[in-house]
Amino acid sequence: MLDICKLGDEILKTKCSEVEKFDDSLKILCNAMFETLDNADGVGLAGPQVGADKRLFIVSIPDKNIRMTFVNPQITETSVETGSYEEGCLSIPGLYHKVTRPLRVKITAKDVNGKIFNVNAEGLLARVIQHEYDHLDGKLFIDRLDEKDRNTVINKYNRKLLKRRKRNG
Ligand code: NI
Repeated sequence: MLDICKLGDEILKTKCSEVEKFDDSLKILCNAMFETLDNADGVGLAGPQVGADKRLFIVSIPDKNIRMTFVNPQITETSVETGSYEEGCLSIPGLYHKVTRPLRVKITAKDVNGKIFNVNAEGLLARVIQHEYDHLDGKLFIDRLDEKDRNTVINKYNRKLLKRRKRNG
């Protein structure tokens, strides 16, 4: 299991580097990320969230039989139509806020073996892909909010942290 970086960690603000080697260490990292994601009961996890400066993320939506690895992804098209949906992030545990994003995206990426694939995504998958893709550019979902909402969310998060610290002495 890997440690998940939290809001305030510098790596979460980093524009990550392309993956160059599709070797065993990449597979080991991705397997460990899936284990970590499953354990955290999340739907998506990006490299920088586990301290890896790599352009890769994984998505797991068991209800829809989706379990995918996206390496060096490129979002090639986004729909004009947008929608608002409540998002959370394993790097900002316990906080949720509605975020507006395009409803559909086209993405091209490589799998863990370096094989290129394309996906036309909609619904939850499109949402998760865009959220995780942002992580690779050092962006969190709170960066998509207007300043007022962002401050509200961050303040709430900090108050929670403080409470937790007090409780733990
Ligand atoms: Ni996230």
